Amino acid sequence: MSQKEYWEQVYSTRLAEKLGWYRPHLETSMSWIKELDLDADAPIIDVGGGASTLIDDLLDEGCESLAVLDISDSALANSRKRLGRQADLVMWLSGDITTYALPPNRFELWHDRALLHFLTEAEQQEAYRSNLLNAVKPAGHVIIGVFSHEAPPKCSGLPVQRYDSEQLSNTLGKQFELVRQHKETHITPGDVEQMYLYCQFRRIAN
Ligand SMILES: C[S@@+](CC[C@H](N)C(=O)[O-])C[C@H]1O[C@@H](n2cnc3c(N)ncnc32)[C@H](O)[C@@H]1O
Repeated sequence: MSQKEYWEQVYSTRLAEKLGWYRPHLETSMSWIKELDLDADAPIIDVGGGASTLIDDLLDEGCESLAVLDISDSALANSRKRLGRQADLVMWLSGDITTYALPPNRFELWHDRALLHFLTEAEQQEAYRSNLLNAVKPAGHVIIGVFSHEAPPKCSGLPVQRYDSEQLSNTLGKQFELVRQHKETHITPGDVEQMYLYCQFRRIAN
């Protein structure tokens, strides 16, 4: 089964609220994004956004230039349905982050909760990094949430790459400076504890 088929099956057979990574709101991400105090028209992308409500909360905050990229059309359809007419205010990008051609120098903020850790091969991580480097503006921001070393070795039945902040910094490359980090226990709907590491970076070089 291809990655796309896997994720399509996940979202088309299970309720979003029952998925292991589900949270009613991504509180840490939202509070860090608010603190960035970006202009309302600052372009923001949520990669691997799935059916997450982050986009709803960003719309409520008045963000005007939002994009969500995901490999699963079912996940994007889920979010579009939930948002109703507001969905038209968002750019929905269907594709694989390791191959999708994002516009260069476009985004002031790149957000990713729980996509990167599924990229376990060095070539996939390099493709992610290269897309990030291409798409994030100079002095732009990056917020990434991944499984930390205390988390289980699998998420949603798939093996994951677990990180500390140094490893995550190395994956992103020297163009990105670590601004802050935070560890948070996520309790899945099935009552399993998963320790996430959130890191915020700033682009400091080309
Ligand atoms: C664990 S879920 C997290 C969803 C969302 N960010 C959240 O926090 O609720 C991982 C998401 O990444 C997407 N995904 C997995 N591999 C991907 C890839 N190579 N390119 C784009 N999206 C991918 C999946 O479809 C899924 O929506």
